Amino acid sequence: MKSDELFALLRRRGFLWPSSEIYGGAQGLFDYGPLGVALKRRLEEAWSAWFLGLSDDYHAIQPSELLPEAVVRASGHLENFTDPEVTCGHCHHAFRAETVLEKVRPEGVDGLSATAIAELVAQHRIACPSCGQAALTVPAPFNLMFGVDFGVTGREKAYLAPETAQGSYLAFARMWEVGRKTLPLGLAVIGRAYRNEIAPRQVLFRMRAFTQAELQVFFDPASFAVPFSAVRDERLPVLRADRRAAGATDVEWTSAAELVAGGLPEFYVFHLAHLFRFFRDVLGYPAERIRLFEKSEVERAFYNRIQFDAEVRLDSLGGFRELGAVHYRGDYDLGRHAKGSGKDLAVTLTDGRRVLPHVLEITFGIDRNLWALADLHLAVEDERTVFRLPAYLAPIPLGVLPLLKKEHGPYARSLLDRVRRAGVPAAYDASASIGRRYARMDEAGAPYCVTVDGETVDPSHPAHDTVTLRQRDSRAQERVPVEGLAARLAEPLRPPRPPAPDAAAS
Ligand code: GAP
Repeated sequence: MKSDELFALLRRRGFLWPSSEIYGGAQGLFDYGPLGVALKRRLEEAWSAWFLGLSDDYHAIQPSELLPEAVVRASGHLENFTDPEVTCGHCHHAFRAETVLEKVRPEGVDGLSATAIAELVAQHRIACPSCGQAALTVPAPFNLMFGVDFGVTGREKAYLAPETAQGSYLAFARMWEVGRKTLPLGLAVIGRAYRNEIAPRQVLFRMRAFTQAELQVFFDPASFAVPFSAVRDERLPVLRADRRAAGATDVEWTSAAELVAGGLPEFYVFHLAHLFRFFRDVLGYPAERIRLFEKSEVERAFYNRIQFDAEVRLDSLGGFRELGAVHYRGDYDLGRHAKGSGKDLAVTLTDGRRVLPHVLEITFGIDRNLWALADLHLAVEDERTVFRLPAYLAPIPLGVLPLLKKEHGPYARSLLDRVRRAGVPAAYDASASIGRRYARMDEAGAPYCVTVDGETVDPSHPAHDTVTLRQRDSRAQERVPVEGLAARLAEPLRPPRPPAPDAAAS
């Protein structure tokens, strides 16, 4: 489906729409409606179940989204969190350099200087995408952070967090104190990030306010052991930087063990494999659409020692798009904050060594993945629109439908109450024909519907207290007892967890 069509569908069903829509919309800002909120929440729950499930030493925290200026100065964001901008001398529109150069330089402009970008623009006589004139120039780098006045005097400045990661770096010292004082220590944040993107576009793909789910694992590089046997034989679709440099564009399915034999650390490959499995096994992205794209030394941020972006091929956006990544950031972050705050952030390990922990970051864009779920699972087929989400991601796991509103409504309502109390989020729909209601539930992604009919409510009928259970994907229907319904749905509605670390290690 094209991006416009997909967005129109999601907007019509009230999943999401442009913010401040009655004022014509605000670029890069979107509001979620009830189905969007529920889907986002389930995606966040699935992310937490999976990544916090990797270790008992990984914990969720919720840091502030406002960062004092001293923090972003120390982190390097004040100086370096910029995007190369290109402006048109004729119509004065501004564009991201990466966007205007994407045809001549599909690998992006990461690591290129402003002079090198200006040369590319001139050499290829790139025209302004807005007015068509060849009048593009490259001005000073544009800082993407939103600064705000902080406090009543107006003299202090704070910044909206450009990434959730900083909150975890700031929390490390406190969490070391309150925790078991051992490494690894993982801090996971699901929170908002804000970036004044030069050219917000492609709906949820480049937003100015969005949600990230990020896990920062603090570890001692000399002793970080993971249960690698759990992933050893997993084959991963990698596109290595050296193969790309030699002209390769296709992935090579490589086992986790082979990647380690080739020089990558076990702890890195273990988490990369779990990001891949999360995409394939939890979000249901087809394996052949996923690629783990290694960034070369010039392409990645200078503090990243290893970076593989997890990309997925999306028809609505015309190709592979980055939806998450694994970054090995070394001791850059705690080193910078130790310097900026004047606090020693090194820790003493049980063997007496004093270590400034390194950081492994697993990052994941909630909004981008919500879009990817819609791109890959929402289909128009056989005259119906069906959102084939895995059951545990469905905004409405169960639809409760009385065949006739008046006669079967009271029973259906009490069934609704019963399943909700048993922990199954369910929605009631009694309006229009049963066919129309199934269609609405299919579009909303409800994996199951139960229909209450005359037999259900008739105490003298053998089928009393049974309902018709309809499966969204197959449209198969079966008669099931009301008793035990919630228990039957509990398993498919539970988000998967990775194998228990101890079991995997043995
Ligand atoms: N802490 C590392 C970090 O922030 P990033 O690649 O800049 O790295 C991480 O962002 C994730 O956040 C990306 O994988 C992407 O999914 C999401 N993301 C980044 N910028 C975004 C934007 N403007 N709109 C929506 N999602 C975005």
